[in-house]
Amino acid sequence: MIKEAAELIRKGKRVTAFTGAGISVESGIPPFRGPEGLWNRYDPKILEINYFRHNPEQSWMVIKKIFYDFFGTAKFNKSHKALAVLEEKKLLSSIITQNIDNLHQEAGSRVVHEYHGNSKRLVCMDCGEFFPSSEIDLNSLPPLCSSCGSGLLKPDFIFFGEPIPEPAGSNSIDDAERSDVFLIIGTSGEIMPASMIPYAAKKNNSKIIEINTERSSFTNSITDIFLQGKATETLSKLLEAVLKTPLL
Ligand code: APR
Repeated sequence: MIKEAAELIRKGKRVTAFTGAGISVESGIPPFRGPEGLWNRYDPKILEINYFRHNPEQSWMVIKKIFYDFFGTAKFNKSHKALAVLEEKKLLSSIITQNIDNLHQEAGSRVVHEYHGNSKRLVCMDCGEFFPSSEIDLNSLPPLCSSCGSGLLKPDFIFFGEPIPEPAGSNSIDDAERSDVFLIIGTSGEIMPASMIPYAAKKNNSKIIEINTERSSFTNSITDIFLQGKATETLSKLLEAVLKTPLL
């Protein structure tokens, strides 16, 4: 099946990857759902936009712990790197990611649509100014904007109740619709509207290759080739198979 998937990637005219929390699990970042999932340990209401507006200090205390103290130092793994190599070899057009950890970009991927935003940026809710999170002191919470002087800073990823950021939203759909090979890696497919993106690819007759340790909501509905296993091992094998024979 690896060989078959590799052949599809080699012959594909436009190959796109769609990634979720599972690709970063081996970097030490837990997924959202499942027994080890974040939502088993923390109350998701801290990421509801209205709760955040009214209780910024309480939300920020948990956000800081999870996204900055705990995962802030995570490094990209072999699967992020394999996708960056595929792009460099012109075998992958883009990545659509639901992840906010910036690890695709740190591994060297260039065309990354941040469908849910990015935790490494903060945005002022009043004046819209952006700041690298590394430049903001998170010891006194909530952080306030140094540009307008009073606005509340929020991580630039979407909270529950917020719309998908643009142009990432439209670019993701465009790329899914234009792809002829579509890789789905490490996502349960339980969160809308992100979970609709692979269906846009399938509608365009794209071949769907899925990598996951477990079956997902896509496996029985649209997946053509299911490669069951950890993202690092499976993508390393796939990359090796793709690069084994000289490219035409
Ligand atoms: N390799 C491959 N897949 C893995 C691995 C691994 N090492 N470990 C876990 N998985 C799979 C799980 O089997 C599961 O299908 O990754 C998936 C993770 O699913 P979720 O935790 O639901 O994460 P995701 O699909 O990215 O969630 C989507 O939900 O709360 C929101 O905004 C958040 O972007 C997130 C969205």
